[in-house]
Amino acid sequence: MEKVINRQWRLVNHPIGLVNESDFEWIEEEVEYKLQEGEILVRNLYLSIDPANRSWIAASSKSHYTEPVKLGEIMRGITIGRILESKNSKFDQGEYVMGLTGWQDYTLSNGSGLTNISLLPKPEGVSLTIYLSVFGMIGLTAYFGLLEIGKPKEGETLVVSAAAGAVGSLVGQIGQIKGCRVIGIAGTDEKCQWITKELGFDEAINYKTENVRKRLEELCPNGIDIYFDNVGGEILDAALANIAVFGRIPVCGMISKYIQTELQAGPKYIVNINSRRVRMQGFIISDYLDRKVEGILELMTWYNEGKIKYREHIVEGIENAPLALNMLFDGSNKGKLICKIANESI
Ligand SMILES: NC(=O)c1ccc[n+]([C@@H]2O[C@H](COP(=O)([O-])OP(=O)(O)OC[C@H]3O[C@@H](n4cnc5c(N)ncnc54)[C@H](OP(=O)(O)O)[C@@H]3O)[C@@H](O)[C@H]2O)c1
Repeated sequence: MEKVINRQWRLVNHPIGLVNESDFEWIEEEVEYKLQEGEILVRNLYLSIDPANRSWIAASSKSHYTEPVKLGEIMRGITIGRILESKNSKFDQGEYVMGLTGWQDYTLSNGSGLTNISLLPKPEGVSLTIYLSVFGMIGLTAYFGLLEIGKPKEGETLVVSAAAGAVGSLVGQIGQIKGCRVIGIAGTDEKCQWITKELGFDEAINYKTENVRKRLEELCPNGIDIYFDNVGGEILDAALANIAVFGRIPVCGMISKYIQTELQAGPKYIVNINSRRVRMQGFIISDYLDRKVEGILELMTWYNEGKIKYREHIVEGIENAPLALNMLFDGSNKGKLICKIANESI
């Protein structure tokens, strides 16, 4: 292959609070890729922007479930790309792959850790990016977190935070499929309307304009059977105040904590865990990857039956990836946040 320019973002500073562009270095490098036996060259097309990206670059990594990105390394991220050249019998030129190839245009890989998504079924007329949301890590997180830890039963009340986001919007819809009454908590009226009017959630609470603890008390007179936590902090406390006896709390994430510089004292209503015999359990989706086919197949069935809707928020250009990450923390993303690196036809 002739020489190409590979654009990359490398981490040069551990951010404090929201990220600055200067926490990363923009590199444009001329490269002539020469493949060895077993290697593939991937043109990255879409980059998933995830709250976890921020945790991976925090200065303190003591509580991490994965190695942090080191200074000088290419920023880690999940991408979808097209194979430009292959010397690996498991992959053909023109096929699409997904994996942790990083914030860059091209990736030379031996194929390890990459999923060949060309081998997976895809509904007609749907963008490849669905593998970064419903049929990918996001869908599986909602699916296993709710079903395995939340254990929803018909007629129960499910409350989910970050409810209009990628994971939260799927959690609510899966809860509905399982016969739950679903209440979503989100940060704008537009998001509250989307989850009730478009997705059919029973109720929505705007946590920026309403008193969440009081609203939950009004809406859940018999308590919350399942609180699916995406945010932690005060919203978790409001849910704990209203949790039902034998309630379950799958802890998917605590985005309100990811950019705080100092840890704060815990929730007041944690006391209810004991008296109401509540089960609260954190999880990371990698815990369930051996069951991913089962999850994806059921999500595909529900999608094809029209029971699952989703929306994506596409930011144009890999040059905008660092600042796009902040959108997850100010709530300006509407749906799964994805950075488009290049046209699929490139
Ligand atoms: N356990 C796992 O394996 C796993 C896998 C994927 C994701 N997650 C977690 O799932 C959660 C959602 O991730 P996602 O990818 O679906 O992102 P997302 O919900 O699409 O976007 C993040 C949303 O979080 C809300 N938010 C941000 N700061 C907040 C705060 N201080 N208080 C309340 N809400 C806040 C914002 O919505 P509003 O406008 O509503 O504030 C924002 O749009 C995150 O905690 C993430 O870490 C966990």
